[in-house]
Amino acid sequence: MGTQRGEWQSNIGFLLAAIGSAIGLGNVWRFSYMAHQYGGGAFLVPYIVALIVAGLPIMLLEYGVGHRAKGSSPLSFRRIGTKYEWLGWWMPVVAMFGIMLYYSVIIGWCFNYLFYALTLAWGDDPQHFFFSEFLSISASASEIGGFRPQIVLSTALCWFLCWLICFRDVSHGIEKASKIFMPALVVITLVLVGWTMTLDGAKDAVFNHYLATDWTKINFLATDPMQRSAAREVWVAAFGQIFFTLSLGFGIMITYASYLPKKTNIGVNALITCIFNCCYSLIAGLTVFGVVGFMAKLQNLPFAEAIKGGPQLAFVIYPKAISLLPAYNNLFGVLFFLVLCIAGLTSGVSLIEAFACSLTDKFNLNRKKAVTSVCCLGFIGSLVFTTNGGLYLLDIADHFITHYGLILGGLVECLLIGWILKSSTIRSHLNATGSSISKLWDFSIKYFTPLILIVLVYFSVSGDLKKNYEGYTTLQLLIYGGGALLICFMIAMIFTLLPWAKDKLEHEHSPEEDDLLV
Ligand code: ALA
Repeated sequence: MGTQRGEWQSNIGFLLAAIGSAIGLGNVWRFSYMAHQYGGGAFLVPYIVALIVAGLPIMLLEYGVGHRAKGSSPLSFRRIGTKYEWLGWWMPVVAMFGIMLYYSVIIGWCFNYLFYALTLAWGDDPQHFFFSEFLSISASASEIGGFRPQIVLSTALCWFLCWLICFRDVSHGIEKASKIFMPALVVITLVLVGWTMTLDGAKDAVFNHYLATDWTKINFLATDPMQRSAAREVWVAAFGQIFFTLSLGFGIMITYASYLPKKTNIGVNALITCIFNCCYSLIAGLTVFGVVGFMAKLQNLPFAEAIKGGPQLAFVIYPKAISLLPAYNNLFGVLFFLVLCIAGLTSGVSLIEAFACSLTDKFNLNRKKAVTSVCCLGFIGSLVFTTNGGLYLLDIADHFITHYGLILGGLVECLLIGWILKSSTIRSHLNATGSSISKLWDFSIKYFTPLILIVLVYFSVSGDLKKNYEGYTTLQLLIYGGGALLICFMIAMIFTLLPWAKDKLEHEHSPEEDDLLV
């Protein structure tokens, strides 16, 4: 007996869940610090180019593949050909082991800070509070140190909440939670943005730093080698961010689309998911830059000195600015960290779902047992990031997974669908659902998107070979970054080699039947 596949109750439920997966820490935390680090408005140009040339085409591809095969990514790729199943495992394994393990810890930090915001517990020196008191960070990435009890607890809470949501079938779990969380997230974000714009100095920061474009920062053909390599880094980061933020290359969108009923306009759904997600990032960026602008003006500091990159933006700079607000500081802080918690949770459940669904598909496992085992083991795995050295580890893992893991997964996916299955097969399927996808999409999936992704991998490799990422030692990068990729690859291979549950493949209907949509 095969496991009964779940189905979304409504298209809006699916959209909220898919947008919930896309909108995550990546939109608020990662997007804002990248926009800052890579030159404010200059970053928005490669970001939007990446959305058009890779984000939307691959979103259509993943929705099409999952909807056509009605399966998680291993099942979907297996149905294209036995020898492609490994790619189907690579994606959810990267999502689960490469990302969710540290993602859950950052959600945990947000829970802690939600609580700290009630009393502005970070005091007058949020930098000291974050690094020395909260993380108690070790001197270098080579010292892992011990566990931070409050981070272990909040990470456990994150896994518990994700378990609670994923435990039930998709329509009663993820869909229901998304219907509550997503409207709440949008409302709270808009309140924060409106509030921020009333602050002195916020609008200046938005117009002069967030939306102002310095074209030299994105000129990857510049004659000056330093400028050229810096610009290339911006382009790689923008494409990595698009994959991360749209949850592409994780197997999530394939899995989510597999729960859709036959008659669903996939093209429209893909367009809405991409546009909504990227607009949300742009809007959330307003509050981050606006608040920093307010603080810079109050302290009479140049904006560039007031803002900082990496996790410091959300956990040091933002708390500092919150403490300086003229009124209702605690409320502002609670709302900001609530946004991060909600956005993080709706993405976290999708990272778990992609992997748990792959297990239930392949081994005919009971969903509840699969989700429970994944969450328990996931929590244990994430403990490594709750240590004194956890921040270094997650920084390195994030760099390697987004720059190589996701982009390479997306590249192989395009080549496989473009050249082996033939993109026209997926396009016919998409168009049979009422979409109007032109042949340009085939061209994109076969030539254009893979070519760009190959150039990006080249930029990435050459950049990393020239200069060690963030000054880490080569050994640290090889162990934590290369190690994370290698572990993901090995896990994906092990799952590929394990046998399918009896009759699992034969008794499922064929994708060709699915193409006969009436
Ligand atoms: N798409 C999710 C995010 O942006 C993973 O955080």
